[in-house]
Parts: sequence; structure tokens; C-alpha cells
Amino acid sequence: MQQTFDVRAVRAEFPALSRLHAGRPVVYFDGPGGSQVARPSIEAMTRYMERGGANLHGVFPTSTETEEILAETRHACAAFLGAEPDEVAFGANMTTLTLAISRALSRNWDGNSEIVVTELDHRANVDPWLIAAEEKGARARWIPVNPETLTLDLSDIEEKITSKTKLVAVGLASNAVGTVNDVAAIAERAREVGAVVAVDAVHAAPHIPIDRDALGADVITCSAYKFFGPHVGVTAIRRELFEAMEVHKLDPAPSHIPDKLETGTQNHEGIAGVKGPWTSSRRSAGRNPAGEVFGGDADSRGA
Ligand SMILES: Cc1ncc(COP(=O)(O)O)c(C=O)c1O
Repeated sequence: MQQTFDVRAVRAEFPALSRLHAGRPVVYFDGPGGSQVARPSIEAMTRYMERGGANLHGVFPTSTETEEILAETRHACAAFLGAEPDEVAFGANMTTLTLAISRALSRNWDGNSEIVVTELDHRANVDPWLIAAEEKGARARWIPVNPETLTLDLSDIEEKITSKTKLVAVGLASNAVGTVNDVAAIAERAREVGAVVAVDAVHAAPHIPIDRDALGADVITCSAYKFFGPHVGVTAIRRELFEAMEVHKLDPAPSHIPDKLETGTQNHEGIAGVKGPWTSSRRSAGRNPAGEVFGGDADSRGA
């Protein structure tokens, strides 16, 4: 049998796989609970905290390092989702991000508005939108599931998504049955009527490459704990929409993208873990011959 990669070496990168229970190796069957965390991710989180965390916008090393880490992870997530770095925002998880985004996007909905959700979606990409619609007196319409094929029934999509539609929320892949939805077709119809498309990529992200633009998503959200990382939610929001969005935030918080969605202090160590090894601009600029800014004593040496 042809071996495509060294399974033992890959398993060794996941410390939780060497756990014993009652003297026996464990097997993790709780898929919805997420994937196990890869060693580089764990090390990045540990290293961040061992080096001393800080808040943003300081002029001292722990603060500038924190900013660099967040910037690096933002770049990595942008590449992962097919978006631009300043379109990427972090949050507690997909559900919490979606709640915040739904509150912002629904500000201009009214009794004439409609939203479209699907029967195949996780509640996290349904309930926040339903709550927002109810508050605004907007009507919620549903794309049903064909119970035979476990696919979305798109036969009357033109009647469902109309000039009244403000938002269409659809999952890229179903966590319940694995169906990969034809998001591009749904988004094309949404675009014709000027509706925003919010894509839940939580289940898809560990399995299939994601190209936000090819999908036609305006908002696309995933969760790093599903792809070998920590509990951090990641969203990418199309620039024009993101800039126009009036998010609920405290007054002193920045009004620019993407910071305006990141209310309060972020989970810096978690965000470090989403990316894994930290490379840093200083390192790539060659200012640290040891090649180790973060794990070593670079700042005390004046690097
Ligand atoms: C398809 C899908 N969407 C959304 C969620 C919710 O994600 P989070 O736990 O990050 O809020 C899950 C979680 O299992 C999921 O499987």
C-alpha cells in the first residue's frame, strides 16, 4: 500500500492522542467537540503566555509582540478564507461572532424585510438571524431539506430570495449529515437582489479549501477548534459591508475594521495558537540572527 504521509509522525504532533484512560490509549469520538490540538498550536499559546502577555497599542515589547502575533494570525486566516487581512476579525466562537454580526446587520431591517435561512444549518447560523428578524418584524423564510437526498431543495429559490431579502444564511457543509451545499448558486441569486450572504464554514473549514469570493460570501465564519487549534472564532466580512456595519461596541473602541467587531480584550494566546509558530516581521527582516525573537531573549539583547 502506498503511504502518503507518516501517520505515526503526524499522530505524534497531537499530544492528546497519547493520553491513556484506565491504562489504554484513548480514541476521540466526539466530533462536534472539535479536533485535538496540534503541538505547534499548543506551543504558540504557551510561548505567548510565558513571554508575558499584554494589551495592544503599548510601546513596550510584550504589547508590540502581541500586535505582531495578531497581525500574523490575521494574515494566515485571510489566506485560509480567501479574504484580506483587515477583513478578518476574531471572537469567542462562531456563534458569538454571528450574534454580534446579526445585531449590526439587522439595524436597517423592518417590517418589509425578509431573511432566508435553511433547515440544514446549525442553529448557530439560524437562531441569531431569527432573533434579529423577530426584533425588527422581518419575515423569516426557510429553504427546506429534501429528506431523501439530505440536500437543500433549491427548486423555488427565486421565489424565496426576492427583492425583500436582506440576508441569506447558509452553511457550506452540514455538521449533521456532511452535505456540501451549493453556496455559490444561492449566493448568485442573493447577489441579484442585493442580499447579504452569511456562510457558516465551521464544518467545512477542516475538510475543504475555502475561497470566499468563489463562494460569493459576504460574511464567512469558522472556528479554529475544529481544525486543530484553540477555541477562537474567525470571521471574514467583505470590506464595503464591514466598513458600513454599525456594530454594537463601547465608545472608546476603534471604529475602523476589523477592530470594531473585536469588543474588549481578545484571547491573545488563543489567537497565537490559531496560527501556530510565530515568525514575526523582525525575524523575517533578519534582525535576530538567532532566528528566535519570541522564544528567546531577543528584547533583552536589544534585538
Ligand atoms: C456547522 C456548525 N456551525 C456552527 C457551529 C458553532 O460553532 P461555535 O462552537 O464556534 O460557536 C458548529 C459547532 O459545532 C457547527 O458544527
